[in-house]
Amino acid sequence: MKQQLEAIRKAALDAISDAGKAEDLEALRVRYLGKKGELTAVLKQMGKLSAEERPVIGQLANDVRAKLEANIEEKTKELADKAMELKLKSEAVDVTIPGKQEKIGVKHPMYQVLDEIKDIFVGMGFEILEDREVELAEYNFTKLNVEEDHPAREWSDTFYFTEDSSILLRTQTSPMQIHAMETRELPIRILAPGRVYRKDEVDATHSPMFHQIEGMAIDKGITMADLKGTLNEVVRQLYGEHTVTRFRPHHFPFTEPSCEMDIQCHKCHGAGCPTCKGEGWIEVLGAGMIHPKVLEGCGIDSTVYSGWAFGMGLERLALGHFKISDLRLIFENDVRFLEQF
Ligand code: PHE
Repeated sequence: MKQQLEAIRKAALDAISDAGKAEDLEALRVRYLGKKGELTAVLKQMGKLSAEERPVIGQLANDVRAKLEANIEEKTKELADKAMELKLKSEAVDVTIPGKQEKIGVKHPMYQVLDEIKDIFVGMGFEILEDREVELAEYNFTKLNVEEDHPAREWSDTFYFTEDSSILLRTQTSPMQIHAMETRELPIRILAPGRVYRKDEVDATHSPMFHQIEGMAIDKGITMADLKGTLNEVVRQLYGEHTVTRFRPHHFPFTEPSCEMDIQCHKCHGAGCPTCKGEGWIEVLGAGMIHPKVLEGCGIDSTVYSGWAFGMGLERLALGHFKISDLRLIFENDVRFLEQF
């Protein structure tokens, strides 16, 4: 029996020391120390021993049991410690790793310019209006005093939705003048930016979709001097104190008199350079005093009220502002381009 016990001790201790998981140890405990375990089986035969042998073998059996229990406990703790160490290692945060940089976009350069212009006009008491891009020809042309056979109405120039040429994509923001006059109380001061559409081929200076900003003021006693004063103040705030403007006579069906405003080239100061195509001046907008026929058509008494309106191209302004050479860059939304502003 002594040999049996020694054999069990040796085998059990080896198995315990080789165990890799807590479950293995539990299985070994059952196998050796359990009610039907190997050690228990040996002890059951103690009755066969002589009175002298019994206490010796009993002592040995107790020692073996104690040793196995102690080793199982020790090994259990060892495995638990190892597991904890692994867990801590895997969950460790390396605070020295550089952080991940988030990519944040920027406002489109053209809308940066638009925001600046809106701010300037809001500062002068104007209200910002944004409205439909699909218009009735009546608002885009007729109510703006554009004659039935005016070339701008041609199918070759305008995107129409209907055979009878009654519904279209607005070709200018000027219909906003009519909407404002029809729906607002006088006096009116509005700024209406938005997209407009014309059948133009895409090139460095043309796009079938572009942006205009319409401005309009109507009150008693408004004159051309108010128009010039307002626009000069806007240009001064946008381009600086010493920016020079000039107003040239022009024709628009819905204003009388009409003009175009140029600003002196910010690059060459009028001498002529590639930016202004040698002109010394850059055309920025069309404007004029609202035609009495247009006022009357909207129910406004043109003998009491008068007003001015202007329309400017936003892309052209943004190109000049950021010294961008090609209009297409504005619309392509290439991040490498947009990131530069
Ligand atoms: N709508 C005109 C254009 O597209 C510009 C304009 C607006 C002219 C308001 C006079 C008054 O060319």
